[in-house]
Amino acid sequence: MDAGDMGRDLEKVLIPEEELQTKIKELAQRIDDDYAGRELLLVGVLRGAVMVMADLARALHTPLEMDWMAVSSYGSGTKSSGVVRVLKDLDTDITGRHVLVVEDIIDSGLTLSWLLQNLESRGPASVEVCALLRKPEAIRTPVDVKYVGFDIPNEFVIGYGLDYAEKYRNLPFIGTLAPHVYS
Ligand code: XMP
Ligand code: MG
Repeated sequence: MDAGDMGRDLEKVLIPEEELQTKIKELAQRIDDDYAGRELLLVGVLRGAVMVMADLARALHTPLEMDWMAVSSYGSGTKSSGVVRVLKDLDTDITGRHVLVVEDIIDSGLTLSWLLQNLESRGPASVEVCALLRKPEAIRTPVDVKYVGFDIPNEFVIGYGLDYAEKYRNLPFIGTLAPHVYS
């Protein structure tokens, strides 16, 4: 690791770059098989999903379009409340489309469950979810996530789109934050 902030703030590498890339190719293969003969609309959830969206989209062979939503969930500190505000809506009419929501991480699942209800109400042909990471808490929430990259421990993770105070999104791997940074 480089000197400076990174060396101090990163606790450990949880998922190295090669493992991320291998997993994304596996997910893309499954998605290609499942959507054979159809067209996809990938909906990336800003900002964390930017990296997984970029790599997944390039690994897919299914004809696709990409659109983005930005949502913020009200809540205290790091816990989401499930009360969600749309900061940027889709530019695309999803009526009759096969929508695949691309997420970086599912923690409580509250944000996603709100988002799925919102999307379903617009009359798409189908809605599924691809999330790179899932934390154990998410298992208690009734959201059906068809494509999951990795189940990870309940630790705060950074990198590959995920931030701490807007930093570290550009790391090519997933790491955990040293406790001194946030405690
Ligand atoms: P819920 O709890 O509604 O929220 O599933 C999911 C959103 O919470 C953020 N989140 C994280 N962001 N490292 C991050 O950088 C993490 O470990 C983490 N856990 C949750 C993230 O924005 C996600 O979309
Ligand atoms: Mg997110």
